[in-house]
Amino acid sequence: MSAPAYGHSFASDVRAGLTSAPQKTLPCQYFYDEVGSALFEAITTLPEYGLTRADARVLQAHAGDLIDLLPANLMVAELGSGTGIKTRPILEQIGTHRPAVYCPIDVSGSALDKCALEMSSVARVFPLEATYLEGLRAAGERRAEGQSLLLLFLGSTIGNFEPEAAIDFLYSVRQSVHPGDALLLGTDMIKPVERLIAAYDDPTGVNAAFNLNLLARINRELDADFNLRRFEHVIRYVPGAQRIEMHLRSRVHQVVKIRQAGLTVEFASGETIRTESCHKFRPEQICEMARACGFRLAAQWVDAEWPFAESLLMAV
Ligand code: TRP
Repeated sequence: MSAPAYGHSFASDVRAGLTSAPQKTLPCQYFYDEVGSALFEAITTLPEYGLTRADARVLQAHAGDLIDLLPANLMVAELGSGTGIKTRPILEQIGTHRPAVYCPIDVSGSALDKCALEMSSVARVFPLEATYLEGLRAAGERRAEGQSLLLLFLGSTIGNFEPEAAIDFLYSVRQSVHPGDALLLGTDMIKPVERLIAAYDDPTGVNAAFNLNLLARINRELDADFNLRRFEHVIRYVPGAQRIEMHLRSRVHQVVKIRQAGLTVEFASGETIRTESCHKFRPEQICEMARACGFRLAAQWVDAEWPFAESLLMAV
């Protein structure tokens, strides 16, 4: 990690994002403080937001098919596990043969505590509080002789990377695993734009609250004075890039102080901060992405109700 200018990486990331021109940005990993995590949970229960339920349905339906394709002596690790709830069917399936070993990797200690508690009935759990690649390295060190790895990267988080960064990231993952190891990659697939818009801009305003909470968090943690009522949640679909972008739009011309980042920022009326991009995929793109990063696509399962794919990539 680079040295933070103000002794705090949240402060330096906020500073870098809000001083970037012409498009101000904020990094999406900061959505998930306590309030943000609760709001995201609420999003996953919205009837319009089918992504998380589709992810869970495919895992539930195909855990058996997945485990049948993999070696018996297996360690499961998961990037950004949260509480690990979606992974339970896979651990249960392994557990019918032998006790499953599970290394959930997450930056949230409280999510990991919950995960360890809830999954201890189906697996031996070794929580790793770390960023993705650090956690993956630590999980590798726990591996027993002759044990294969099944790495999970669910929820379409890969879609939050810019396409080039996604390739770089998967390539780094490939460098950290062995030939024959497996990566189960969740990806949200392209679908009619009206469905995407409804999912990310629900009429009850839960998505809006989730997005705006990022500014509230900056107020709480960095002694800033964002007036949340002067910003609004807007989404943009960029068809050429197959992505939905999340923005926070300034309703008026205004100046905001972020004391702990040593920053005063001016917003023009209508100017936006881009907070996240969610790329959607075509089936063949997953195959291409896999190949570019040293994996081969071994199997793919797609939900019938909400196009979402679980792809099994084998390290070659
Ligand atoms: N990564 C999630 C997604 O792609 C996050 C998300 C859901 C989100 N709703 C949002 C981010 C609204 C910003 C605003 O589905």
